[in-house]
Amino acid sequence: MTKNINSSTSNGNKQPDLLEKIVSLCKRRGFVFPGSEIYGGFAGTYDYGHYGLALKKNIQQSWWQHFVENQENMYGMDAAILMNQKVWRASGHAEGFADPLVECEECKKQFRIDQLDFPRLNLKDSEKVQPLCPDCAGKLSEARQFNMMFKTNIGAAENENSVSYLRPETAQGMFANFKNALDAYHPKLPFGLAQIGKAFRNEIAPRDFLFRTREFEQMEIEYFVNPKDWKKSFEDLRLETKKWLAEIGLASEKIHELEVPDGERAHYSKRTIDFEYDFPFGRNELYGLAYRTDFDLANHSRESDVSLEYLDEESKEKFIPHVIEPSFGLDRTFLALLCEAYTEDEMNNEKRTYLKLSPKIAPVKVAIFPLLRNKPALVKKAREVFKFLHSKLQVTGYMIEWDDNGNIGKRYRRQDEIGTPATITCDFQTLEDDTVTVRDRDTGKQERVKIAELVDTLQNKLA
Ligand code: GLY
Repeated sequence: MTKNINSSTSNGNKQPDLLEKIVSLCKRRGFVFPGSEIYGGFAGTYDYGHYGLALKKNIQQSWWQHFVENQENMYGMDAAILMNQKVWRASGHAEGFADPLVECEECKKQFRIDQLDFPRLNLKDSEKVQPLCPDCAGKLSEARQFNMMFKTNIGAAENENSVSYLRPETAQGMFANFKNALDAYHPKLPFGLAQIGKAFRNEIAPRDFLFRTREFEQMEIEYFVNPKDWKKSFEDLRLETKKWLAEIGLASEKIHELEVPDGERAHYSKRTIDFEYDFPFGRNELYGLAYRTDFDLANHSRESDVSLEYLDEESKEKFIPHVIEPSFGLDRTFLALLCEAYTEDEMNNEKRTYLKLSPKIAPVKVAIFPLLRNKPALVKKAREVFKFLHSKLQVTGYMIEWDDNGNIGKRYRRQDEIGTPATITCDFQTLEDDTVTVRDRDTGKQERVKIAELVDTLQNKLA
């Protein structure tokens, strides 16, 4: 029997120690490492290791299957990260993608003014009017607008014509290809373009592990609609988002929808709902669902002088479609899933930590080991079972791991910490009757299963 002594927050209360434990597990078990660590790190960057990458790929795959492969009117793409600078002029990012930055005149630290955390200094209301540095209480400079795009030069020349940017959103690659999509697929409205890819923002204050980084991955859809139907599509995509969140195992009570008020939405949006999650550091944005109107297509049409109108074959009407955009942060999803899954309990009177990930997205689905690594007959048999499962299950995308490091207790602890739902052990009885033990990650219970029935048992367990 297990006794749960600490699972993640269920009420939005902050749990800073939970984030520390997750960061530590991620490094210890090869999920995520700090970027450029041997050089002292590189703020706002992280490197995914073997298990982190597997988890990230499973999230991507689940999203792609749900929103692209299972839909009739969705088309995938993978646009270049570097684009003609005119794209960013048309999109409004060159002009307006900026955060208000203040600098402390004493310690020179920089802050986004909207993120200043006044309570840390217990400032009185009257003092908040003239904010001071939250670290040293020094005087802060006047706010200046700081453009968050990373600027670079293309080719050998360094002049204003050679300027380009690392894209701050994947969205523009889809707007810039709207006409190509019309010409190639002849789609009827509504239809969507979807892509998963890296985006970059020169954040003034990266923080909270994978939550706010300078290089991150987005999963975005630009859904083109007849302007008169935007409300229905907005609602449909809101519901699809909730469905997918349930599919990957994010508990609905920790997800909150926030209607973003006038004046706080991005420059292109007429309506935005933020999907927020109760992270250990507080409630914060996971995804945005925005009604971008014809803002982007109309601006690109003007800037490029290319018509981006759609001809409705039935009504013979020509118009620029409007856009609903669900924008998902992949790294934020990854972090939310770890927060959700991180569990400490007691098993056989010992404390243990495990990741209660849904089998659908767990990085390793099945681990297999010989009871003892120094008994050749056991190792040989376990290798046979490993190869057999590999040939039957790996083809369906299951990651199966061989593990003979340390003693069996250590192997269970390691597999629990990386969230492996099922572990198989070949022991002395296996040599006699061709059965193995299958251990359940969450309960620690073991059942004996015939090798001939193993594939069915695992497929049921991992479905
Ligand atoms: N495409 C929306 C965003 O990047 O926030």
